[in-house]
Amino acid sequence: MLAVAILAAGKGTRMKSKLPKVLHPLGSKSLVERAIASCNSVKPDRTLIIIGYEGETIKKALSHLDNVEFVEQKEQLGTGHAIQQLIEPLKDFSGHLLVLNGDVPLLRSETVEQLISTHQKNGNQATLLTANLSNPKGYGRVFCDNKNLVTQIIEDRDCSSAQKQNHRVNAGVYCFEWDSLKEVLPKLTTNNDQKEYYLTEVVDFLNPVMATDVDDSLEINGINDRRQLALAHDILQARVKEAWMMAGVTMIDPDSITIEDTVQISPDVVIEPQTHLRGNTVIGTGCHIGPGTFIENSHLAENVKVFYSVIVDSTIASNSKIGPYTHLRGEAKIGENCRVGNFVEVKKSTMGNKTNVAHLSYIGDATLGNQVNVGAGTITANYDGVNKHPTIIGDRTKTGSNSVFVAPVTIGENATIGAGSVITHDVPDQALAIARGKQRNIENWNNK
Ligand code: UD1
Ligand code: CA
Repeated sequence: MLAVAILAAGKGTRMKSKLPKVLHPLGSKSLVERAIASCNSVKPDRTLIIIGYEGETIKKALSHLDNVEFVEQKEQLGTGHAIQQLIEPLKDFSGHLLVLNGDVPLLRSETVEQLISTHQKNGNQATLLTANLSNPKGYGRVFCDNKNLVTQIIEDRDCSSAQKQNHRVNAGVYCFEWDSLKEVLPKLTTNNDQKEYYLTEVVDFLNPVMATDVDDSLEINGINDRRQLALAHDILQARVKEAWMMAGVTMIDPDSITIEDTVQISPDVVIEPQTHLRGNTVIGTGCHIGPGTFIENSHLAENVKVFYSVIVDSTIASNSKIGPYTHLRGEAKIGENCRVGNFVEVKKSTMGNKTNVAHLSYIGDATLGNQVNVGAGTITANYDGVNKHPTIIGDRTKTGSNSVFVAPVTIGENATIGAGSVITHDVPDQALAIARGKQRNIENWNNK
């Protein structure tokens, strides 16, 4: 049996934040969600989150996860005290206990798998992940014999200057035999600078305790302040972008591009500078995105071009061209071979194929057919101050510049709307509708 415990009860004072540290987002997920996710591949039988500071907020933030249990640590008296809270909920449990700090978000699942296998192979009572850091400041130092058996872990603040020369640090990721650990947990003391119960003190009572170095020391970065959060963001971005480049995606100036790890991209996509892809976005092959584009929770089919635009919760079929300065939102659905252009906002609307809305328009709650040509400055007046109403425009209809459709209104197929018209009534197929004041010229006006 395997249980996972995640330490998430601390306030995270160094973040200087109202939000508990482990709920700070790192890309698409919070720190604690990332810690939990790094254990998914080892399929734990139980996952226990130790909460304290703002515990209810953490519970709520994790309510979408099933199979997690919350254990309250009323007072935060240290990492050892946190694990002592498991004695009751795990009283009938037997097997391995994986412990992770909730503020270690970059751990790879492969590393967790290796830790468990090293632990099992050697029949250890405890195995912990270590790394050699050039700047080990703030981390507990791990002292081993020549067989990687741990003799002592000393926190940075408790180290003598000689001990600080040891750069091998404790990652805060451990695998324990629960049956042995639960016997020694009551023996912990507060014999240290912070007068806290340190989990690391169990090393004095368990045997054998083995350290195993992580391959990539960046994985164990703990987040204690905003600088470390920013650094973790950089590391995660580098990982994500490197993987997509290896999978056939071209990036121009990758440092200026951000891509959340939830995004899916096909080969032969080109991403230009200052482009940001977020959420459940899917980009089809042949797309050319950017420069200067933000896309969130949207699906782009093949060969779509997007230039300086914002696209949220929308879908675009193949070969369409978007931008510059287009805003698609709230389930905009753009057909194939469309052109949505300069300064156009589209909200909760559907467009057929080969339809163009090229300049200065607002299209909201509308359904546009195929080959519709929407003239410059066309507006759907969809809101009467209380309710939103639909506009329907049939295939091959052309709207003149500066037309306003006062919804609800339906325009047939092959219709033409005269420029400057305010359309308040339905227009039949094939008709020309003109709704504007007639022009009157007064001769010799300036000769008087
Ligand atoms: C801890 C380790 C240190 C290691 C480092 C790795 C101890 C004593 N030290 O130090 O050796 O190098 O992690 O990042 O374990 N927490 C609780 N309850 C508490 C105290 C803390 O749940 O009473 C949680 C925090 O929310 C946090 C985690 O435990 O997620 C680690 O606590 P933190 O105070 O950040 O420990 P470090 O000083 O970083
Ligand atoms: Ca920490």
